[in-house]
Amino acid sequence: MRKPIIAGNWKMFKTSAEAVLLAREVREAVADLGQVEVVLCPPFTALAAVEGIIADSKIGLGAQNMFWEEQGAFTGEISPLMLQGLCDYVILGHSERRQYFGETDETVNKKMKAALFHKLIPIVCVGENLAQNEAGETEAFVGSQIKGAFAGLSAEQATKIVVAYEPIWAIGTGKTATPEQANRIIVASIRQVLAELYDNNVAETVRVQYGGSVNPGNVEGFMGQPDIDGALVGGASLKADSFVTLVKGALVKFR
Ligand code: PGA
Repeated sequence: MRKPIIAGNWKMFKTSAEAVLLAREVREAVADLGQVEVVLCPPFTALAAVEGIIADSKIGLGAQNMFWEEQGAFTGEISPLMLQGLCDYVILGHSERRQYFGETDETVNKKMKAALFHKLIPIVCVGENLAQNEAGETEAFVGSQIKGAFAGLSAEQATKIVVAYEPIWAIGTGKTATPEQANRIIVASIRQVLAELYDNNVAETVRVQYGGSVNPGNVEGFMGQPDIDGALVGGASLKADSFVTLVKGALVKFR
């Protein structure tokens, strides 16, 4: 069975001091939940401080973005070399990066390769916007994002990756896909495309999260689906009690 993975994407929230407090609360509350992998993704400025809090726990640390070059005249960017050894994961191609910062399938692919080279596990985000959803283009669009993101990766590299299926219209809006819809898209546009690109083993090994307005009230519905292995959580990850409830929600897989 694929190990469930619940990741908190703190986006551009939390000073270092606030991040330390939240990480400490989460660490205390999830200490005994070894069946679920928990990952915290604070802003860059809080990564080292949060690492100090979770270092002796099983909680993983993720960055929210990175550039693909190791170093150079790229003012304001963070390189994989800087994250290697500090983080376990890096979120790549989040829809907010694609929408506001011009990221494309091509730049996401460069980042995927750089991350894997530096032993960082990508949490790569895909998902359609409302117009695409209403036009019935979801499967084709998400499938093309998967092909773009995985281009040139070996099967061995591919199996390590975590994919987050996040319909853009569901992020931060309180609207969600139904668990059945999300599961269907994940099978049709992610697992089947991975089976075409690689084989059934890769398609069945890659962990796929759902993201977009996951909250304590709806988490079990998503986690009850066979092809949803976890959640990438924004708003509901900013408070320890709601995030911890989400982590516990993933235990539905073991009932
Ligand atoms: P949300 O964000 O949970 O606030 O909808 C999810 C995400 O953007 O990863």
